[in-house]
Amino acid sequence: VPMHLPWIDAIQALKRDRGAVLMAHSYQSPEIFHGVADVTGDSLALAQAAADCDAEIVVLCGVHFMAETAKILAPRMKVLIPDPLAGCSLAESINAADVRALRARHPGSPVVTYVNTSAEVKAESDACCTSANAVQVVEAMGADKVIFLPDRYLGSHVASQTDVQLVLWDGRCEVHETFTAAEARHARKRFDARLVAHPECPPEVLAEADFVGSTSAMGAWLEREQPERVALITECSMADNLRLRFPATQFIKPCNLCPHMKRITLQNIHACLRDMAPEVTVPERVAARARRALERMLAVGR
Ligand code: 13P
Ligand code: SF4
Repeated sequence: VPMHLPWIDAIQALKRDRGAVLMAHSYQSPEIFHGVADVTGDSLALAQAAADCDAEIVVLCGVHFMAETAKILAPRMKVLIPDPLAGCSLAESINAADVRALRARHPGSPVVTYVNTSAEVKAESDACCTSANAVQVVEAMGADKVIFLPDRYLGSHVASQTDVQLVLWDGRCEVHETFTAAEARHARKRFDARLVAHPECPPEVLAEADFVGSTSAMGAWLEREQPERVALITECSMADNLRLRFPATQFIKPCNLCPHMKRITLQNIHACLRDMAPEVTVPERVAARARRALERMLAVGR
């Protein structure tokens, strides 16, 4: 879009000056995802990229927990976030004291925590996971019962795929929880679309879907199936960002935007690179414990 071009050019120039790497989650707007990002992907891909990154400066275009995760995995790197108020309803749903109370109630059961949490919650956990590897991480714990936090819907989806008993928490993603089964059925009936849903959606929505998968798994499914029409029941920018990769597929958008992801704009990315702020820091006392849980997740992989 022409109005974005001056900002994109200015960001590219500043990025070169600063020697900064710009990482963007798949829920970022296309002008960010396609226009200025050096690394793109789901939460797991961004965590892996941060762990492997040798740049001195990273601008994390995503929400706060993603920037914290990058900082924990690469403590010597300066991690900037264009808007530190970019939060997440899942991360807000639980704190460190809640995790300690759950452990006391289920002694001996390991805690697996979705990366959509604060550094303090990660520090109380045995391992982290994302929606891309939740089943694998739960099973890698080698326990009959696992405390799985904080997304109830992702948790019940994982529970349906493993024999491990899961203790769940009542967190939800404010974007995915609002999709309804009626909306999904409408997309199928009205547009003859295949349905692909993110596991953060309610179970009755997942029951309507042809495929349930994480952000990266959705791309792989499209690659395999090459559908004529598809409705991605997830954050709206996913369809915008995948459209270029799959020109023969028509994307029907039952569209919900994440208000936190959308706090990141070309304008505040530019300001962030110009001012070298805001910077995300995590106290080493917390980071050291959270790093163990994140590294356990990275060892399991995708
Ligand atoms: P993934 O990137 O793990 O698919 O998570 C989706 C999400 O809601 C991120 O905030
Ligand atoms: Fe959090 Fe949901 Fe937004 Fe992802 S889409 S950042 S899980 S509120």
